[in-house]
Amino acid sequence: MNILDRINKLKKEKNAIILAHNYQPEEIQKIADIIGDSLELCIAAKDTNKDIIVFCGVDFMAETAKVLNPEKKVLIPEIIETYCPMARDLPPEVILKEKKKHPNAKVVIYVNTLASSKALADATCTSANADKVVNSFDEKEILFGPDNNLGYFVSKRTDKKIILVPEGGHCYVHKTFTIEDINRVKKEYPNAEILIHPESDPEIQDLADHVMSTGGMVKHVLNSEKEEFVIGTEVDMITRIKIDLEKLGKTKKLIPLRKNAICTSMKPISLEKLEKCLLEENYEINLSEEIIENAKKAINRMLLI
Ligand code: 13P
Ligand code: SF4
Repeated sequence: MNILDRINKLKKEKNAIILAHNYQPEEIQKIADIIGDSLELCIAAKDTNKDIIVFCGVDFMAETAKVLNPEKKVLIPEIIETYCPMARDLPPEVILKEKKKHPNAKVVIYVNTLASSKALADATCTSANADKVVNSFDEKEILFGPDNNLGYFVSKRTDKKIILVPEGGHCYVHKTFTIEDINRVKKEYPNAEILIHPESDPEIQDLADHVMSTGGMVKHVLNSEKEEFVIGTEVDMITRIKIDLEKLGKTKKLIPLRKNAICTSMKPISLEKLEKCLLEENYEINLSEEIIENAKKAINRMLLI
């Protein structure tokens, strides 16, 4: 039996589902039951009736799956290296301090944070719904973090005062995009539409044809009449879109804005680690009841929108 068959057999025996983020390596995307952006994976984690959720992504995503399914076993095939640095930019103590400074503000926290921070939020958001979540509140002031660039994206789509916390919170992968990159692709591919993730700097967002989440990019490319796209996010996003295009028997030209826009935290998961994870039921995500209860309220507030 080859490794793919062994993984599928284990998956059936253990009544497990494999969820994979759009930035996962090709081999993982291809064996996953569901591939998606942060929001799509939150919904999949909420809706599953399987006993075990194997989350192929980064730590905060697996934590979200656990918050939404405390009674289930949530596993991640690698625990140490799947570390999103941006999720560490906004620890709970910073939120508490900022809440004191802005007592009238509602707190909207990007899902790219650890569960202990989500537990202090009024609502979470993803890049697919950040503006909708912010606009769903009556309050005029919103504490928003940790991604300052997503905060910029939201501030252009609301009349509320967006207070960014912490100053300088960012994703190092999207930070690599420069105006020179945009000028280069515009010159080399004049017919291509430029799609940019809102974690990119404001000047990059302003030069894009569309600013959208990774899930938004998939839908846009699949449904568009256009044939060429520059993909301004992590490089394996192209792998993801190609998988869906292939299923539809279509081909389109997809150009990475930067070939070295690689999220190293998304790459340590391999087929070998996935098989070991199912076999040994390791590494399990565990969170305190209090964190689960409070983080769930904030995530559910988002899922209701
Ligand atoms: P999406 O919600 O668009 O998938 O983004 C998640 C992420 O980590 C982007 O860096
Ligand atoms: Fe974190 Fe950036 Fe990687 Fe997304 S791309 S998981 S924000 S480091």
